[in-house]
Amino acid sequence: MAHTSNIAVLNGPNLNMLGMREPDIYGHHTLADIEAKCRLLAEERDMGIDWFQSNLEGDLIDKIQAVAGSADWIIINAAGLTHTSVALRDALALFPGGVIEVHLSNIHARESFRHTSLISAVAKGVIAGFGPASYYMAIDAISYLQLET
Ligand code: DQA
Repeated sequence: MAHTSNIAVLNGPNLNMLGMREPDIYGHHTLADIEAKCRLLAEERDMGIDWFQSNLEGDLIDKIQAVAGSADWIIINAAGLTHTSVALRDALALFPGGVIEVHLSNIHARESFRHTSLISAVAKGVIAGFGPASYYMAIDAISYLQLET
């Protein structure tokens, strides 16, 4: 059966280090743990998942362009590039589907340089501060939006 939605989940720099990276802020889950749970949730909802992580801005941009024909949604944790990358924002603005920005931490409760996201303006919505559940809520948001169409 065709999937109800195809979702590309994109993860930016240093998220490959989750589990050992500043666990007081980011917790003890690895990115592979989060991926496994997202795949489970997506399967239950008949959604397809394309999971991607890169430390390189250009690779993330290439991926956004590559999934433009196949993904209905992008869930993105652009990590540090959230606060700096005009090029990533421009690539997301070109994506014909919906974009959901996620963060593990509440970026507004942290250093002031994290309060600005260059990506939020091209996203349908933003989920930040719930740890790995930010990703799971983004998948749920897509299922709720499907009920409305
Ligand atoms: C992050 C928040 C960013 O400010 C930071 O640079 C990250 C992770 C988060 O998920 O909380 O790498 O996107």
